[in-house]
Amino acid sequence: MAKIIFRTNAGDTTVEAKNGETLLEVAERSGVSIFGGCGGAGVCGSCHVFIDQAFVDKLPVPTNEEQDLLEILPNGKVNSRLACQVKVSDILDGMVVSVP
Ligand code: FES
Repeated sequence: MAKIIFRTNAGDTTVEAKNGETLLEVAERSGVSIFGGCGGAGVCGSCHVFIDQAFVDKLPVPTNEEQDLLEILPNGKVNSRLACQVKVSDILDGMVVSVP
């Protein structure tokens, strides 16, 4: 379990997330507005989020497929990830996920 804080224009939403859930799944069941255009298949880039800098190095590195998509996002940054490709674990407790 980990507390994930989703930051949107509407404010912060703190959610208890289970290990193994993706950030997209957590957001969808919590009413946080992240669009998963390809249903979490990792091929559309619509679930782009920015990860709290303090947690970037705690995440597994992106797969080549995710990295390829991140590199073509118009507003991509070094802390960009796809919410459908990041799985929750205890080590992510307190992580802020900003929705562009
Ligand atoms: S939902 Fe399409 S890449 Fe994440």
